Amino acid sequence: PNPEATPLYDLLDRAAQAYRTWLRRHGDKDRAVEYLRRRGLSGDVAARYGIGFAPPGWDNLLRELGNEKELVRAGLAIRKEETGSVYDRFRDRIMFPIRDRRGRTVGFGGRVLDQGEPKYLNSPETPVFHKGRELYGLHECLQAQRYPDHMLVVEGYMDVVALAQQGLPNAVATLGTATTTDQVERLFRTTRNVVFCFDGDEAGRQAAWRALENTLPAMRDDRQARFLFLPDGEDPDSLVRQLGADGFRAQVGDALSLSQFLLKELSRDADVQTVDGRARLLERAATTVRRVPPGVFRDLLVDEVARYARVDRVHMERAVGGDGTARP
Ligand code: UTP
Ligand code: MN
Ligand code: MN
Ligand code: MN
Ligand code: MN
Repeated sequence: PNPEATPLYDLLDRAAQAYRTWLRRHGDKDRAVEYLRRRGLSGDVAARYGIGFAPPGWDNLLRELGNEKELVRAGLAIRKEETGSVYDRFRDRIMFPIRDRRGRTVGFGGRVLDQGEPKYLNSPETPVFHKGRELYGLHECLQAQRYPDHMLVVEGYMDVVALAQQGLPNAVATLGTATTTDQVERLFRTTRNVVFCFDGDEAGRQAAWRALENTLPAMRDDRQARFLFLPDGEDPDSLVRQLGADGFRAQVGDALSLSQFLLKELSRDADVQTVDGRARLLERAATTVRRVPPGVFRDLLVDEVARYARVDRVHMERAVGGDGTARP
């Protein structure tokens, strides 16, 4: 326990309360409420995720909570270098509190109501908020299901809350960063089945590959990772609104297994009809498979790649190094 963090948790919690209150009763709240309604969110789901509103203006939170110095430390206010004056970081935005596993608010994401830039503004790194570690929605997911059978990993805040709105409360978001090995470990401590479900665009496909790479070290025989690729231009929010919960579940059922996705990517421009192409595939596969800890999963992966590349298992094991199972 970090004694310096305690006052920050308290302050962040009071900020979340203030944002929630402003969504209900600030003079400018109508635009925010209208925005959430347009995106299909009910008051119930908004309350479950603690969604709030930071009104326009430079000092709403500063005046509400005082304590400039701590607000700056909590990432809620910004101090101007030149003049030393302090102003609210989040202004005229829909506020999504980011909670840790235990439910303490550690940071925020704020979305503009219209076309402004950046679309989402996030809390900076603070003594209690580390972006690559938290998973948005994890606490809320665990509130809904103590032991989720599977979890969906999505990119955005709106994806998480839209899925919850449709009756799928088991989604978490990586907060716009690449999925880290740390986040994957956290996920697998919560569930055995993780389904990555990123946006149907180039960034989403790259995020999926990065997620695969960072999932390999966490693979154990009783863990399963799968990958759902969405139609171009769709994200989980838009798709679940189109298909409903059952339609979306059906898509999840069709997600690629880790090895299917791996082989699909590795075999891009590696023609397995030729010795050359098979060697290239083997080489690429070896680099990836090496990251998987020894065990049944790794053995099966070696088998599958070998079969796909139409080479003997021995060749694949040689490429991976050692006998394909032992590690130095
Ligand atoms: P997207 O642009 O896909 O957001 O970015 P989205 O959730 O689909 O947004 P809307 O509300 O439906 O239009 C995915 C995630 O990347 C992070 C946020 O966490 C966002 O939810 N991001 C995106 C940022 O941090 N800043 C940005 O400016 C944009
Ligand atoms: Mn820390
Ligand atoms: Mn996107
Ligand atoms: Mn998106
Ligand atoms: Mn979206």
